[in-house]
Amino acid sequence: MLFAGRAAAQDVTIPVETQHNAIVLQTDAEKHLNMVYLGAKLANSAEYARIQKMYKQADDSGVQNDVYTPSGSASLGEPAITVTHADGNKSLNLTYVSHTVSKVSDDVSLLVVTLKDPVYDFEVKLYYKTYYKEDVTEQWSVIKHNEKGVVTLNKYASANLNLKGNTTGGFWLKQYHGNWAMEVQPEEARLTHGIKTIDSKLGTRANLYEHSMFAISLDKPATEDEGKVLYGALEWSGNFRVDFELDVTNNLKIIAGINNAASEYHLKPGVEFTTPAFLYTYSDHGKGDASRKLQSWARQYKIVDGNGSRLTLLNNWESTYFDFNETKLAGLLKDTKKLGVDLFLLDDGWFGNSHPRNGDNAGLGDWQENKQKLPNGISSLVKEAQANGVKFGIWIEPEMVNPASDLYKAHPDWVIKQPNRPEKYFRNQLVLDLANPKVQDFVFGVVDNLFTKNPDLAYIKWDCNAVIYNAYSAYLKKDQSHIYVDYVNGLYNVLKRVRAKYPKVPLMLCSGGGGRVDYGALQYFTEYWPSDNTDPLERVFIQWEYSFFYPAITSSNHVTDWGKQPIKYRVDVAMMGKMGFDIVIGKLSDNELAFCQSALKNYDGLKDAIWHGDQYRLASPWDNDAASIMYVNADKSKAVMFNYLVNNRYGSGTKVPVRLKGLDPNKKYRVKEINVFPGTGSVLGNEDLVLTGDFLMNVGINPETNTYHTSVVLQLEAI
Ligand code: DGJ
Repeated sequence: MLFAGRAAAQDVTIPVETQHNAIVLQTDAEKHLNMVYLGAKLANSAEYARIQKMYKQADDSGVQNDVYTPSGSASLGEPAITVTHADGNKSLNLTYVSHTVSKVSDDVSLLVVTLKDPVYDFEVKLYYKTYYKEDVTEQWSVIKHNEKGVVTLNKYASANLNLKGNTTGGFWLKQYHGNWAMEVQPEEARLTHGIKTIDSKLGTRANLYEHSMFAISLDKPATEDEGKVLYGALEWSGNFRVDFELDVTNNLKIIAGINNAASEYHLKPGVEFTTPAFLYTYSDHGKGDASRKLQSWARQYKIVDGNGSRLTLLNNWESTYFDFNETKLAGLLKDTKKLGVDLFLLDDGWFGNSHPRNGDNAGLGDWQENKQKLPNGISSLVKEAQANGVKFGIWIEPEMVNPASDLYKAHPDWVIKQPNRPEKYFRNQLVLDLANPKVQDFVFGVVDNLFTKNPDLAYIKWDCNAVIYNAYSAYLKKDQSHIYVDYVNGLYNVLKRVRAKYPKVPLMLCSGGGGRVDYGALQYFTEYWPSDNTDPLERVFIQWEYSFFYPAITSSNHVTDWGKQPIKYRVDVAMMGKMGFDIVIGKLSDNELAFCQSALKNYDGLKDAIWHGDQYRLASPWDNDAASIMYVNADKSKAVMFNYLVNNRYGSGTKVPVRLKGLDPNKKYRVKEINVFPGTGSVLGNEDLVLTGDFLMNVGINPETNTYHTSVVLQLEAI
């Protein structure tokens, strides 16, 4: 414990500092705790105490800067918390009581602030976990009371940030929407007065239409390297809600948390309700810097094995769909070896007997090998993979059930559906009720059985293809409004158990594409599936946008037959993350196969920079004929620059040198084009090109991307 404070007569000021930034909390005359600053840290920390006085108090307007805005008392802005007390009263007032700061490690600190209602026995503790080097904060709240009876939490946000208004350009929100196969479509606009809300009410696949991740630029939209920008996202895999309220004093209040729609939570006395964490980082140096902070934090602290390795793979989904048998799979295992990847991933369709999984309308829930397709079971496939010198992985979708399944017939009460309404399906399936501990045991059992029976199983793709319609849990009885929250916590219980027993095994987070990409789930996974849309032209944009929040090591990029691009372009695009294939190897020409094999070898030499290095976006696909992006390893001795043409009109291409970033100006780099297709030459000609980091970052290099060379990969090695 480093510090503990209590309410005193004079104002209490609590600065929360990271390497470059500070958040400042301060009490006012009525002991309300306000968030008075979020921005670059001040050289003289004694000046933090003066910040609040610089702003005109707006008491008469009811506009406050509460650190966690209650409702029904003096603050009249959008609340972070709304409750119905045990006596039916709806007024909450929260005042500062005390705070503590403790060190978790050299890099990580935890501030806990206690707020209480002076009238009701009701308490909120605010947690700020800060990562000093990464400038990242995770913030959540723990709510508790000792009233005589149950209190209803009508709204219970994770965090409430206040950004002070400026007189110039206001606040600019970059947000994401999408749908199946068109994930993470960005929009950026200036916030106007009033409230803008982004949210999800889908239950599962919560990110199908919107994301909780966003960026707020101050004054004007931040660019890659310039501008003040705050990045935020909720670590939650269910319904979320983020409110942006631009108030009458031009302050911006950001309230992020679980969506309270149809989700009042009943809290018994003495029980703690813990909200998910809201994650944020701030930069004075643009979106690139902010995203590198998030990527580095995720590798270091959040995702499973972020500093470790990943397996390249061959998946069979697009090459066979549900139509395979042991003979076909034996051929695919040989292809896996021939191609030169680490693992074969068997996708959907391997299970179900009374309701065989030969299409997407039957079998989910019956996780036994289909005897016709796989008479010798998974274990013989795992062995056969080993005999071929490759590993074996498998697809599951354990949260779901088809009405055409033994599971549905045996346990109708395990299924989320309204008792008195017709069933409504999404992809012919329903969602299992993970609020029910027995269902949690079943879902854990699906994974555990696979590993127990096949200890050498090396990878799992965990899919989730339906949203929750007709939300009703037979298990929750009178607490139906808990279903969305308890579902996600039930899912996390299962994933915690999986990780306790299988700490490092690679798990891919998939949700019919990118329907569930968030750090709440990703803390249990090694990678995610960005989109079923694997047309590389589309993927350039999709992977580009995800990269603002998630490191390349987590992005599963598969080479498939989607789109019209040549194999080189498809491979080059997959390479900017965690690479895999989902094509029929036998259909490749000799040159195409040789190209893929040699690209995999190149990838092997560069994967440390791509997976663990710093990423720099050089030319945006939204603004240029060609996108350019690069990765530099930790000691700046190795880098790779990917360039992709995204406009195929006559004469389009990279016309001027692209300035590189993140290199050592004093090092000399040998620049070489790699992934050159057999029979074609390098765009750089035959010259042995050696240039300084100084030259490459100030003058740049033209990768010559054009309609003949639609993708160009340049490797840089310090000599
Ligand atoms: C949706 C996934 O996104 C696909 O990759 C594939 O696994 C199918 N489900 C299988 O049903």
